[in-house]
Amino acid sequence: MFLTDRPGLLVLFLTALFRLASSQTIGSSNGAILCSGTRTIQSSPHSHWGYITSPNHSQSYPAENMQCTFKFQPKADEQIQLIFSYFNLRESGEVPATTNCDLSDSVKIFIGTSRTNFNPGNQLGEYCGKKHPEIVMAVGQPLTVIFTVRTKENPNIKALHMFKAKYAFTKDYGIRTQAEHNKTAGCHFIFDGRRVSNTGDFDSPNFGGLYPYAVNCLYTFRAYGNQSIRLNFNKFEVDGHHDCRRPDDDYVYFQEGELNWKNFASPADDDDLKRTKNATLYCGKRAPPQINFGNRVVNVLFKSGQQWTNHGFRGTYTFVGHPGVFLPRSSSTKGTISSTTPTSLTLLALILAQCFS
Ligand SMILES: *[C@@H]1O[C@H](CO)[C@@H](O)[C@H](O)[C@H]1NC(C)=O
Ligand SMILES: *[C@@H]1O[C@H](CO)[C@@H](O)[C@H](O)[C@H]1NC(C)=O
Ligand SMILES: *[C@@H]1O[C@H](CO)[C@@H](O)[C@H](O)[C@H]1NC(C)=O
Ligand SMILES: *[C@@H]1O[C@H](CO)[C@@H](O)[C@H](O)[C@H]1NC(C)=O
Repeated sequence: MFLTDRPGLLVLFLTALFRLASSQTIGSSNGAILCSGTRTIQSSPHSHWGYITSPNHSQSYPAENMQCTFKFQPKADEQIQLIFSYFNLRESGEVPATTNCDLSDSVKIFIGTSRTNFNPGNQLGEYCGKKHPEIVMAVGQPLTVIFTVRTKENPNIKALHMFKAKYAFTKDYGIRTQAEHNKTAGCHFIFDGRRVSNTGDFDSPNFGGLYPYAVNCLYTFRAYGNQSIRLNFNKFEVDGHHDCRRPDDDYVYFQEGELNWKNFASPADDDDLKRTKNATLYCGKRAPPQINFGNRVVNVLFKSGQQWTNHGFRGTYTFVGHPGVFLPRSSSTKGTISSTTPTSLTLLALILAQCFS
Protein backbone atom coordinates (compact mmCIF):
# COMPACT_ATOMS: atom_id res chain seq x y z
CA MET A 1 0.00 0.00 0.00
CA PHE A 2 1.06 3.53 -0.35
CA LEU A 3 -1.42 5.91 -1.82
CA THR A 4 -3.95 4.09 -3.80
CA ASP A 5 -5.87 2.20 -1.14
CA ARG A 6 -6.95 5.26 0.82
CA PRO A 7 -8.52 8.33 -0.71
CA GLY A 8 -7.76 10.31 2.49
CA LEU A 9 -4.07 9.64 2.07
CA LEU A 10 -4.23 10.64 -1.55
CA VAL A 11 -5.72 13.96 -0.50
CA LEU A 12 -2.97 14.28 2.11
CA PHE A 13 -0.27 13.66 -0.44
CA LEU A 14 -1.78 15.94 -3.02
CA THR A 15 -1.95 18.60 -0.31
CA ALA A 16 1.70 17.96 0.53
CA LEU A 17 2.51 18.11 -3.17
CA PHE A 18 0.76 21.41 -3.53
CA ARG A 19 2.51 22.76 -0.45
CA LEU A 20 5.86 21.71 -1.82
CA ALA A 21 5.11 23.19 -5.19
CA SER A 22 3.86 26.49 -3.86
CA SER A 23 6.16 26.59 -0.80
CA GLN A 24 3.28 28.08 1.13
CA THR A 25 1.24 26.84 4.00
CA ILE A 26 -2.32 26.34 3.01
CA GLY A 27 -5.21 25.99 5.39
CA SER A 28 -6.14 22.36 5.62
CA SER A 29 -9.68 21.18 5.37
CA ASN A 30 -10.89 19.95 8.74
CA GLY A 31 -11.48 16.26 9.11
CA ALA A 32 -9.61 15.05 6.06
CA ILE A 33 -6.34 14.72 7.90
CA LEU A 34 -7.60 13.77 11.33
CA CYS A 35 -6.28 10.31 11.83
CA SER A 36 -8.31 7.43 13.07
CA GLY A 37 -7.78 3.73 12.88
CA THR A 38 -4.67 2.00 11.61
CA ARG A 39 -2.52 2.99 8.68
CA THR A 40 -0.33 0.13 7.43
CA ILE A 41 2.90 1.15 5.76
CA GLN A 42 5.08 -1.07 3.60
CA SER A 43 7.83 -0.44 1.12
CA SER A 44 6.99 -0.45 -2.57
CA PRO A 45 9.27 -0.68 -5.60
CA HIS A 46 9.09 3.12 -5.88
CA SER A 47 9.40 4.06 -2.26
CA HIS A 48 11.20 2.76 0.77
CA TRP A 49 11.02 5.81 3.03
CA GLY A 50 8.72 8.65 4.04
CA TYR A 51 7.41 10.60 6.98
CA ILE A 52 4.70 10.17 9.57
CA THR A 53 3.37 13.20 11.41
CA SER A 54 0.72 14.19 13.89
CA PRO A 55 -2.54 15.37 12.25
CA ASN A 56 -2.60 18.88 10.78
CA HIS A 57 1.17 18.97 10.60
CA SER A 58 2.95 21.45 10.34
CA GLN A 59 0.50 23.13 12.72
CA SER A 60 -0.32 21.90 16.21
CA TYR A 61 -2.48 18.80 16.19
CA PRO A 62 -6.10 19.37 17.24
CA ALA A 63 -6.94 18.92 20.93
CA GLU A 64 -9.56 16.29 20.27
CA ASN A 65 -9.60 12.82 21.73
CA MET A 66 -8.15 10.53 19.11
CA GLN A 67 -5.81 7.67 18.54
CA CYS A 68 -3.74 7.17 15.40
CA THR A 69 -1.94 3.90 14.73
CA PHE A 70 0.88 3.51 12.23
CA LYS A 71 1.87 -0.05 11.55
CA PHE A 72 5.11 -0.60 9.64
CA GLN A 73 5.36 -3.97 7.99
CA PRO A 74 8.90 -4.72 6.74
CA LYS A 75 9.46 -7.53 4.23
CA ALA A 76 11.51 -10.57 5.28
CA ASP A 77 14.81 -9.05 4.13
CA GLU A 78 14.06 -5.53 5.39
CA GLN A 79 14.43 -3.57 8.57
CA ILE A 80 12.24 -0.64 9.51
CA GLN A 81 13.99 2.35 11.06
CA LEU A 82 12.17 5.29 12.62
CA ILE A 83 13.82 8.63 13.41
CA PHE A 84 11.89 11.42 15.13
CA SER A 85 12.98 14.89 14.03
CA TYR A 86 10.41 16.94 15.98
CA PHE A 87 8.61 15.97 19.15
CA ASN A 88 6.56 18.14 21.50
CA LEU A 89 3.22 16.86 22.77
CA ARG A 90 0.62 18.48 25.01
CA GLU A 91 0.98 17.74 28.70
CA SER A 92 -1.65 17.12 31.32
CA GLY A 93 -2.10 20.01 33.80
CA GLU A 94 -2.41 17.52 36.66
CA VAL A 95 0.37 15.00 36.13
CA PRO A 96 3.35 16.51 34.27
CA ALA A 97 4.86 14.48 31.46
CA THR A 98 8.15 14.34 33.32
CA THR A 99 6.40 12.16 35.95
CA ASN A 100 4.60 9.75 33.65
CA CYS A 101 2.62 9.75 30.43
CA ASP A 102 -0.66 8.49 31.91
CA LEU A 103 -2.67 11.69 31.50
CA SER A 104 -0.65 13.42 28.76
CA ASP A 105 -0.71 12.91 25.01
CA SER A 106 1.73 10.17 24.13
CA VAL A 107 3.46 8.10 21.50
CA LYS A 108 3.95 4.41 22.25
CA ILE A 109 6.25 2.28 20.16
CA PHE A 110 5.78 -1.48 19.99
CA ILE A 111 7.59 -4.32 18.29
CA GLY A 112 5.17 -7.08 17.58
CA THR A 113 2.58 -8.64 15.40
CA SER A 114 -0.79 -7.63 16.73
CA ARG A 115 -2.24 -5.40 19.36
CA THR A 116 -3.47 -8.29 21.43
CA ASN A 117 0.09 -9.59 21.64
CA PHE A 118 1.37 -6.37 23.13
CA ASN A 119 2.89 -6.81 26.55
CA PRO A 120 5.48 -4.79 28.48
CA GLY A 121 8.16 -6.91 26.82
CA ASN A 122 7.45 -5.65 23.35
CA GLN A 123 6.68 -2.06 24.20
CA LEU A 124 9.91 -0.31 23.28
CA GLY A 125 8.94 2.93 24.89
CA GLU A 126 6.27 5.48 25.75
CA TYR A 127 7.06 9.12 25.10
CA CYS A 128 5.27 12.32 26.06
CA GLY A 129 5.97 16.01 26.61
CA LYS A 130 9.32 16.86 25.08
CA LYS A 131 10.92 13.47 25.76
CA HIS A 132 12.29 12.76 22.32
CA PRO A 133 11.91 9.10 21.23
CA GLU A 134 15.06 7.10 20.51
CA ILE A 135 15.92 5.98 16.99
CA VAL A 136 14.32 2.55 16.78
CA MET A 137 14.56 -0.39 14.40
CA ALA A 138 12.72 -3.67 13.92
CA VAL A 139 14.08 -6.56 11.87
CA GLY A 140 11.63 -8.69 9.93
CA GLN A 141 8.80 -7.96 12.35
CA PRO A 142 6.28 -5.11 12.49
CA LEU A 143 6.83 -1.89 14.34
CA THR A 144 3.75 -0.08 15.60
CA VAL A 145 3.40 3.53 16.68
CA ILE A 146 0.29 4.60 18.59
CA PHE A 147 -0.34 8.31 19.03
CA THR A 148 -2.96 9.13 21.66
CA VAL A 149 -4.49 12.57 22.25
CA ARG A 150 -6.39 12.99 25.51
CA THR A 151 -5.54 16.48 26.84
CA LYS A 152 -7.39 19.72 26.36
CA GLU A 153 -5.81 22.78 24.84
CA ASN A 154 -4.30 25.21 27.37
CA PRO A 155 -4.72 28.68 25.82
CA ASN A 156 -1.82 30.01 27.94
CA ILE A 157 0.68 27.69 26.28
CA LYS A 158 1.68 28.85 22.84
CA ALA A 159 3.91 25.97 21.80
CA LEU A 160 3.94 24.12 18.49
CA HIS A 161 2.55 20.74 19.48
CA MET A 162 3.29 18.10 16.87
CA PHE A 163 5.61 15.27 15.96
CA LYS A 164 7.38 14.32 12.78
CA ALA A 165 9.36 11.16 12.12
CA LYS A 166 11.15 9.77 9.11
CA TYR A 167 10.78 6.07 8.41
CA ALA A 168 13.00 4.01 6.15
CA PHE A 169 12.87 0.39 5.07
CA THR A 170 16.56 -0.50 5.06
CA LYS A 171 18.57 -3.57 4.12
CA ASP A 172 21.88 -2.65 5.78
CA TYR A 173 20.72 -2.79 9.43
CA GLY A 174 21.69 0.88 9.72
CA ILE A 175 25.36 -0.18 9.76
CA ARG A 176 27.60 2.38 8.07
CA THR A 177 30.75 0.66 6.93
CA GLN A 178 33.23 0.06 4.12
CA ALA A 179 32.97 -3.64 4.83
CA GLU A 180 31.34 -6.03 2.39
CA HIS A 181 27.79 -6.95 3.34
CA ASN A 182 27.12 -10.67 2.98
CA LYS A 183 23.41 -10.33 2.33
CA THR A 184 22.71 -14.04 2.11
CA ALA A 185 23.53 -14.35 5.81
CA GLY A 186 21.54 -11.24 6.77
CA CYS A 187 23.55 -9.15 9.22
CA HIS A 188 27.07 -10.26 8.23
CA PHE A 189 29.85 -7.81 7.38
CA ILE A 190 33.30 -8.82 6.15
CA PHE A 191 36.32 -6.63 6.87
CA ASP A 192 38.98 -7.76 4.41
CA GLY A 193 42.39 -6.37 5.40
CA ARG A 194 43.25 -5.79 1.73
CA ARG A 195 40.11 -3.74 1.02
CA VAL A 196 39.14 -1.63 4.03
CA SER A 197 41.07 1.19 5.73
CA ASN A 198 43.62 -0.19 8.18
CA THR A 199 41.56 1.21 11.03
CA GLY A 200 37.87 2.01 11.39
CA ASP A 201 34.68 1.39 13.30
CA PHE A 202 32.23 -1.46 13.44
CA ASP A 203 28.87 -0.75 15.02
CA SER A 204 25.95 -2.68 16.38
CA PRO A 205 22.82 -2.41 14.20
CA ASN A 206 20.98 0.93 14.35
CA PHE A 207 23.89 2.45 16.29
CA GLY A 208 23.00 5.94 17.52
CA GLY A 209 19.65 4.50 18.53
CA LEU A 210 18.50 1.25 20.11
CA TYR A 211 19.55 -2.06 18.61
CA PRO A 212 16.67 -4.22 17.34
CA TYR A 213 15.22 -7.21 19.18
CA ALA A 214 16.13 -10.72 18.06
CA VAL A 215 18.99 -9.89 15.75
CA ASN A 216 22.18 -11.86 15.11
CA CYS A 217 25.05 -9.89 13.60
CA LEU A 218 28.46 -11.13 12.60
CA TYR A 219 31.59 -9.09 11.83
CA THR A 220 34.36 -11.10 10.17
CA PHE A 221 37.92 -9.70 10.11
CA ARG A 222 40.44 -11.26 7.72
CA ALA A 223 44.12 -10.34 7.90
CA TYR A 224 46.61 -10.76 5.00
CA GLY A 225 50.36 -10.34 4.53
CA ASN A 226 51.88 -9.58 7.89
CA GLN A 227 48.73 -8.01 9.32
CA SER A 228 47.39 -8.86 12.73
CA ILE A 229 44.01 -7.86 14.14
CA ARG A 230 43.37 -5.60 17.13
CA LEU A 231 39.89 -4.81 18.46
CA ASN A 232 38.67 -2.50 21.16
CA PHE A 233 35.34 -0.98 22.19
CA ASN A 234 34.74 2.73 22.74
CA LYS A 235 31.13 2.30 23.73
CA PHE A 236 29.50 -0.80 25.10
CA GLU A 237 25.86 -0.87 26.23
CA VAL A 238 24.68 -4.41 25.63
CA ASP A 239 21.86 -5.56 27.85
CA GLY A 240 22.62 -8.45 30.21
CA HIS A 241 24.03 -9.45 33.57
CA HIS A 242 26.96 -11.34 35.07
CA ASP A 243 28.17 -14.00 32.63
CA CYS A 244 25.41 -13.20 30.06
CA ARG A 245 24.03 -16.74 30.17
CA ARG A 246 20.42 -16.09 31.07
CA PRO A 247 18.04 -16.75 28.16
CA ASP A 248 17.20 -13.05 27.70
CA ASP A 249 20.78 -11.76 27.98
CA ASP A 250 22.21 -10.12 24.86
CA TYR A 251 25.90 -10.61 24.28
CA VAL A 252 29.08 -10.18 22.22
CA TYR A 253 31.37 -13.15 21.58
CA PHE A 254 34.75 -13.47 19.83
CA GLN A 255 35.63 -16.52 17.77
CA GLU A 256 39.21 -16.80 16.54
CA GLY A 257 39.26 -18.74 13.30
CA GLU A 258 36.24 -19.71 11.24
CA LEU A 259 32.85 -19.46 12.93
CA ASN A 260 30.52 -22.37 13.40
CA TRP A 261 27.49 -21.14 11.41
CA LYS A 262 25.19 -23.06 13.73
CA ASN A 263 26.26 -20.66 16.50
CA PHE A 264 25.45 -17.72 14.26
CA ALA A 265 21.95 -18.86 13.33
CA SER A 266 20.52 -19.94 16.69
CA PRO A 267 18.47 -17.30 18.54
CA ALA A 268 20.04 -15.64 21.60
CA ASP A 269 17.55 -17.19 23.99
CA ASP A 270 18.28 -20.75 22.88
CA ASP A 271 21.95 -20.76 22.23
CA ASP A 272 24.75 -23.36 22.40
CA LEU A 273 27.30 -20.67 23.28
CA LYS A 274 25.40 -19.92 26.50
CA ARG A 275 25.63 -23.60 27.38
CA THR A 276 29.34 -23.85 26.49
CA LYS A 277 31.06 -23.28 29.84
CA ASN A 278 34.40 -22.06 28.43
CA ALA A 279 32.96 -19.54 25.94
CA THR A 280 33.48 -15.96 27.17
CA LEU A 281 30.44 -13.76 26.56
CA TYR A 282 30.40 -10.00 27.09
CA CYS A 283 27.39 -7.92 28.17
CA GLY A 284 26.26 -5.40 30.77
CA LYS A 285 29.15 -3.98 32.78
CA ARG A 286 31.46 -6.61 31.40
CA ALA A 287 32.80 -4.82 28.31
CA PRO A 288 35.43 -6.55 26.20
CA PRO A 289 39.04 -5.46 26.84
CA GLN A 290 41.30 -4.43 23.98
CA ILE A 291 42.40 -7.67 22.34
CA ASN A 292 45.34 -8.33 20.01
CA PHE A 293 44.54 -11.53 18.18
CA GLY A 294 47.12 -14.04 17.00
CA ASN A 295 44.74 -15.58 14.49
CA ARG A 296 44.32 -14.12 10.99
CA VAL A 297 40.57 -14.61 11.11
CA VAL A 298 38.44 -13.17 13.91
CA ASN A 299 34.66 -13.30 14.10
CA VAL A 300 32.68 -10.99 16.38
CA LEU A 301 29.19 -12.23 17.06
CA PHE A 302 26.46 -10.01 18.52
CA LYS A 303 23.08 -11.39 19.50
CA SER A 304 20.02 -9.77 21.03
CA GLY A 305 17.01 -11.56 22.44
CA GLN A 306 13.29 -10.84 22.33
CA GLN A 307 13.10 -8.92 25.61
CA TRP A 308 15.51 -6.03 25.92
CA THR A 309 17.44 -3.46 23.99
CA ASN A 310 20.08 -0.82 24.62
CA HIS A 311 22.42 1.47 22.72
CA GLY A 312 24.79 -1.28 21.63
CA PHE A 313 28.45 -0.87 20.83
CA ARG A 314 30.92 1.00 18.71
CA GLY A 315 34.04 -1.10 18.17
CA THR A 316 37.29 -0.05 16.54
CA TYR A 317 39.35 -2.48 14.50
CA THR A 318 42.98 -2.05 13.48
CA PHE A 319 44.83 -4.15 10.97
CA VAL A 320 48.40 -3.80 12.30
CA GLY A 321 50.97 -4.38 9.56
CA HIS A 322 50.73 -4.58 5.78
CA PRO A 323 48.39 -6.78 3.73
CA GLY A 324 51.03 -7.26 0.99
CA VAL A 325 48.59 -6.11 -1.67
CA PHE A 326 45.66 -3.67 -1.67
CA LEU A 327 42.47 -4.57 -3.52
CA PRO A 328 39.71 -2.22 -4.65
CA ARG A 329 36.83 -1.73 -2.24
CA SER A 330 34.00 -4.09 -2.88
CA SER A 331 31.27 -2.69 -5.12
CA SER A 332 28.59 -4.00 -2.81
CA THR A 333 29.58 -1.42 -0.22
CA LYS A 334 26.44 0.26 0.95
CA GLY A 335 26.11 3.98 1.48
CA THR A 336 24.72 5.43 4.66
CA ILE A 337 21.12 6.33 5.13
CA SER A 338 21.81 10.02 5.43
CA SER A 339 23.91 10.11 2.25
CA THR A 340 20.95 8.74 0.30
CA THR A 341 18.42 11.19 1.70
CA PRO A 342 16.52 12.36 -1.35
CA THR A 343 16.00 16.01 -2.12
CA SER A 344 12.61 17.63 -2.38
CA LEU A 345 12.77 17.16 -6.14
CA THR A 346 13.17 13.40 -5.85
CA LEU A 347 10.40 13.47 -3.28
CA LEU A 348 8.20 15.23 -5.83
CA ALA A 349 9.12 12.66 -8.44
CA LEU A 350 8.33 9.84 -6.04
CA ILE A 351 4.96 11.33 -5.15
CA LEU A 352 4.15 11.86 -8.81
CA ALA A 353 5.20 8.31 -9.62
CA GLN A 354 2.92 7.10 -6.83
CA CYS A 355 0.00 9.20 -8.05
CA PHE A 356 0.15 8.12 -11.65
CA SER A 357 1.21 4.49 -11.32
C1 LIG B 1 -5.17 23.02 11.14
O1 LIG B 1 -4.33 24.17 11.14
C2 LIG B 1 -4.94 25.32 10.58
C3 LIG B 1 -3.92 26.45 10.52
O2 LIG B 1 -3.47 26.79 11.79
C4 LIG B 1 -6.15 25.71 11.43
O3 LIG B 1 -6.78 26.86 10.85
C5 LIG B 1 -7.13 24.54 11.44
O4 LIG B 1 -8.19 24.84 12.30
C6 LIG B 1 -6.42 23.29 11.93
N1 LIG B 1 -7.33 22.16 11.77
C7 LIG B 1 -7.68 21.41 12.79
C8 LIG B 1 -8.57 20.27 12.49
O5 LIG B 1 -7.29 21.63 13.93
C1 LIG C 1 27.88 -15.59 3.59
O1 LIG C 1 26.92 -16.25 4.42
C2 LIG C 1 26.76 -17.63 4.19
C3 LIG C 1 25.72 -18.13 5.17
O2 LIG C 1 24.47 -17.61 4.86
C4 LIG C 1 28.07 -18.36 4.40
O3 LIG C 1 27.89 -19.73 4.11
C5 LIG C 1 29.13 -17.75 3.49
O4 LIG C 1 30.38 -18.37 3.77
C6 LIG C 1 29.24 -16.27 3.76
N1 LIG C 1 30.18 -15.65 2.82
C7 LIG C 1 31.35 -15.20 3.21
C8 LIG C 1 32.19 -14.61 2.13
O5 LIG C 1 31.74 -15.25 4.35
C1 LIG D 1 35.82 -25.41 25.05
O1 LIG D 1 36.51 -26.59 25.41
C2 LIG D 1 36.35 -27.66 24.47
C3 LIG D 1 37.04 -28.91 25.04
O2 LIG D 1 38.30 -28.60 25.52
C4 LIG D 1 36.93 -27.25 23.12
O3 LIG D 1 36.78 -28.29 22.18
C5 LIG D 1 36.21 -26.00 22.65
O4 LIG D 1 36.80 -25.55 21.44
C6 LIG D 1 36.28 -24.91 23.70
N1 LIG D 1 35.45 -23.84 23.27
C7 LIG D 1 35.79 -22.58 23.39
C8 LIG D 1 34.81 -21.58 22.94
O5 LIG D 1 36.88 -22.24 23.86
C1 LIG E 1 55.15 -6.14 6.58
O1 LIG E 1 55.07 -6.19 5.17
C2 LIG E 1 55.49 -4.98 4.55
C3 LIG E 1 55.22 -5.05 3.04
O2 LIG E 1 54.85 -6.33 2.62
C4 LIG E 1 56.98 -4.73 4.84
O3 LIG E 1 57.38 -3.51 4.25
C5 LIG E 1 57.14 -4.64 6.34
O4 LIG E 1 58.51 -4.54 6.65
C6 LIG E 1 56.59 -5.89 7.02
N1 LIG E 1 56.67 -5.70 8.45
C7 LIG E 1 57.10 -6.65 9.27
C8 LIG E 1 57.11 -6.29 10.74
O5 LIG E 1 57.44 -7.73 8.87
